[in-house]
Amino acid sequence: MCGIVGYIGTQDTKEILLKGLEKLEYRGYDSAGIAVQNEEGVHVFKEKGRIADLREVVASDVSAQTGIGHTRWATHGAPSRHNAHPHQSTSGRFTLVHNGVIENYSILKREYLADVTFESDTDTEVIVQLVDKFSKEGLSTEEAFRATLKLVKGSYALALIDAENEETIFVAKNKSPLLVGVGDTFNVVASDAMAMIQVTDQFLELMDKEMVIVTRNEVTIQSLEGEIRTREPYTAELDASDIEKGTYPHYMLKEIDEQPLVMRKIIQAYQNDQNELTIDADILAAMDQSDRVYIVACGTSYHAGLVGKQFIEKLAGVPVEVHVASEFVYNMPLLSEKPLFIFISQSGETADSRAVLVEVKKLGHKALTITNVPGSTLSREADYTLLLHAGPEIAVASTKAYTAQIAVLSILSAVTAKAKGRELGFDLVTELGIVATAMEALCDQKEEMEEIAREFLATTRNCFFIGRSLDYYVGLEGALKLKEISYIQAEGFAGGELKHGTIALIEEGTPVIALSTQENVDLSIRGNVKEVAARGANPCIISMKGLETEEDRFVLPAVHEILTPLVSVIPLQLISYYAALHRDCDVDKPRNLAKSVTVE
Ligand code: F6R
Repeated sequence: MCGIVGYIGTQDTKEILLKGLEKLEYRGYDSAGIAVQNEEGVHVFKEKGRIADLREVVASDVSAQTGIGHTRWATHGAPSRHNAHPHQSTSGRFTLVHNGVIENYSILKREYLADVTFESDTDTEVIVQLVDKFSKEGLSTEEAFRATLKLVKGSYALALIDAENEETIFVAKNKSPLLVGVGDTFNVVASDAMAMIQVTDQFLELMDKEMVIVTRNEVTIQSLEGEIRTREPYTAELDASDIEKGTYPHYMLKEIDEQPLVMRKIIQAYQNDQNELTIDADILAAMDQSDRVYIVACGTSYHAGLVGKQFIEKLAGVPVEVHVASEFVYNMPLLSEKPLFIFISQSGETADSRAVLVEVKKLGHKALTITNVPGSTLSREADYTLLLHAGPEIAVASTKAYTAQIAVLSILSAVTAKAKGRELGFDLVTELGIVATAMEALCDQKEEMEEIAREFLATTRNCFFIGRSLDYYVGLEGALKLKEISYIQAEGFAGGELKHGTIALIEEGTPVIALSTQENVDLSIRGNVKEVAARGANPCIISMKGLETEEDRFVLPAVHEILTPLVSVIPLQLISYYAALHRDCDVDKPRNLAKSVTVE
């Protein structure tokens, strides 16, 4: 949802900004731009499309010591060159990049800037025009920036440069993620440490409503009231190789293949010296004291939450509700007496989930965040955090984070069960190890997955995924994967539900992917397959060893029945990947999407 970068120092500013933006492209890729500043002034380059398109228009001979950059996911104003950031004030003195949404931009425009001709349709431009207005009224740039920040409502990560001051980047943050990276004789600004890990691994976390003055040798953090705040940098533990594709054609394929390793990392991370699974005692106490768990998440993370509900209820015996964050915030259900909230979020930055967390904290309830990103907003603002240990997930379509979320939820449930004296009946470490091996076997069968994708999805308009119980939840995730990267209209249904209306859509040849990994519903889902086949559908049954029949198209290696989502999703991820390839889609950057959704 837009990414910003900034650099001030002695190295090749332009290249550092462009490389940083390439790493942030997962946050949006509608348009991009940079502004670099040298003794001759500020030079702005922007273009509709990807960073590769921007590279084409950046003058090769411009050298600079200061610069800011932006990659955009359009909210206000269509994706176009004139709406691309950086935006400049009409005087040309101030240049700004912004990630977030200024909610009161039209009021500010009307009240303060009625005589200004705006260049773009964005909400952002109001900020740079306000700074310009206040500076013309006699305020210093710092004062004008502060006065502007006090007026704007909404979310922002901002970096501003002043044509009359080559030595400073003015930075501010509220709700949108932003870090300042510190180096020797240079400093940087980035929405995500990943963007600048090539130049520094030392980062300062910024809090909401903080303003920062960044020069080559100094970083001064202050509140909007001007109170100076001191803070030590932390070391970002990111391996540069984690964020490269290596020999893979796409990040998505790399991340699918990483899943067995992630399972093993999770087992290790949650084991104590006696090789027993363990969870922080405070989290166990919170689980123990709660009479109902509310899982709140979006998209793929919501689908992981549906599986998590089964684990927590069946293993730990605590009732669970799972809610889509964007609905929960405006339509809160009647809460139990002692609720515990679990936020599941790969990025830890999703605005819809954060809006719920803010409400829940106001009500005085406890919250646990399960996230891949330590120090992310949802992690910082919740009472407790459990990490996914999945490594950076860069492809827009989530794969390894989904299975990591499910694995961590299984551990949380099993350890809670043990603390409550409930018998599990199986050893989770052993079973997760079996899952990792099964995942490996599946990742080795890519040719088969490619074949299934070609056979069922190469030309189809739509596709249905059906399953019962846990398989239904995995079907929802399979459908999301397929639609988001191949643009095939795909829907997941509970096997028994199709005949209550949707079966009307079945035509000759409609692909129906049916999952059957649960013994107690095996016969019923096969019955549902017969119903759609009788109406012309082209069924593709994916079953599990032990339940297989001759009509099945693919058989998964056997794993513990409760952990089947961890393996049954792998063929669905791979089938979606190959379907998108067959259809010539941009697998890692599907249209209209961004990975980190930081606007509500
Ligand atoms: C789909 C996908 C999204 C995210 C959703 C929540 O492949 O990635 O549906 O799962 O936007 O994001 P997080 O987990 O970062 O809160």
